Amino acid sequence: MLKSNLAVIILAAGKSTRMKSAVPKVLHPICGRPMLDYVLDLVKGLGASKIITVLGHQHKEVAQLISPGIKVVIQKQLLGTADAVKQASRLLKNFRGTVLVLYADNPLLKKETINNLLKHHRENNLDATLLTSVLDNPTGYGRILRDKYYSICGIAEEKDADGFQKDIKEINTGIACFDSAKLFNALKYVRPNNRKNEYYLTDTIGIVYKNGGLIEGVTLKDVSEAHGINSRIDLARANKIMQQRINEEFMSKGVTIVDPGSTFIGAGAKIGTDTTIYPFTVIENNVKIGKRCLIGPFAHLRESTVIKDGVLVGNFLEIVRSRINPKTIIKHFCYIGDAHIGSRVNIGAGTVVANFDGRKKHPTIIGNGAFIGSDTVLVAPVEVGKYAITGAGSAVINNVAARSTVVGVPARKLLKNNRISLASKSK
Ligand code: UD1
Ligand code: MG
Repeated sequence: MLKSNLAVIILAAGKSTRMKSAVPKVLHPICGRPMLDYVLDLVKGLGASKIITVLGHQHKEVAQLISPGIKVVIQKQLLGTADAVKQASRLLKNFRGTVLVLYADNPLLKKETINNLLKHHRENNLDATLLTSVLDNPTGYGRILRDKYYSICGIAEEKDADGFQKDIKEINTGIACFDSAKLFNALKYVRPNNRKNEYYLTDTIGIVYKNGGLIEGVTLKDVSEAHGINSRIDLARANKIMQQRINEEFMSKGVTIVDPGSTFIGAGAKIGTDTTIYPFTVIENNVKIGKRCLIGPFAHLRESTVIKDGVLVGNFLEIVRSRINPKTIIKHFCYIGDAHIGSRVNIGAGTVVANFDGRKKHPTIIGNGAFIGSDTVLVAPVEVGKYAITGAGSAVINNVAARSTVVGVPARKLLKNNRISLASKSK
């Protein structure tokens, strides 16, 4: 296959009116990652000589996601998708080859789909190739128009479509590749003669057709990939689809997920083999879990948490910015924050790490083999030594020496004769 020169244009300037949000649409997260990140990922490894992102609405916030190798063009007036591509084309004056257009609100596309689209476009020497999908409910999408020979001859946008066109189930996903010269020429003839008074990129298809250009469609096998996000309802659906993909990926790598429907795992989480995740568990993005762990039910594992092999965490607990070493057990009702917990530690039911003093967060360290009694409050910064014991209901405000036992509020050392030391060790 002849690999023609490739440029990619990502459209992300839109106002996101239908999201009704102060946050730009493309920054809304899907499984913990901004929507735009997924589209930026798609472009990696395509071999594009130029990648251009068109930003507009709240462009300063969105630009923070764009890495240095990607060019940014600002669309000052949001006149429509054709205008957005026109703005990007200013950076492609001397470019000849294939232009791939991606919409930033289409985060569910898979890389292999984009590769297939490009392959079809190049192998058949086409002027435009559209990624299409056939949907039971095509509401909201542009409809693919075909002539009597079944060749694609245009796209009718939902708002401008007549009754017959609205019945068409084949839709435009928004993803397309073009011969650069044909695209740039067609852009000159796009007019905002439609209900939204916008310059539609989709009108270039009718123009290329009228000029005798060759247009074909590649139809998506997995219709979920076509799902564009324009509203919060679309966003929730995309989350569900992405979550299913993430969960299935983990299961295929040897993780047991008892109820995938109630298990929420962030896009960047890592989980080792033979770990079991029980229902109603939330595992955020940069959480790492080792092998043979039992997690949940009802566990919330938040950012920067590392759980090593053979750990038990659940039921009803929250762990954040903490490291839990192998074979430690944290079984019931706990809050663990900013803690470093050794191996083979037993954390009793109801243990709370009081890591925040109202102004700052403080660390807690628990040594290997320690036994933390039920309902212990560890007031950070504090350190519990190896094999130390805290009594049920104790409030630990001072460091606990290795192999010693503390009890009470505030916790004091328990002496051999079961008396309590009245002198508490300072930190
Ligand atoms: C668009 C397509 C429609 C397709 C659907 C798929 C057009 C005219 N219609 O409709 O055929 O079925 O996507 O999801 O293209 N944008 C800009 N600048 C603008 C306007 C939009 O950069 O001036 C960006 C948006 O940020 C968005 C993308 O272009 O990422 C698509 O715009 P949007 O308004 O969401 O178009 P749809 O109505 O979804
Ligand atoms: Mg859209």
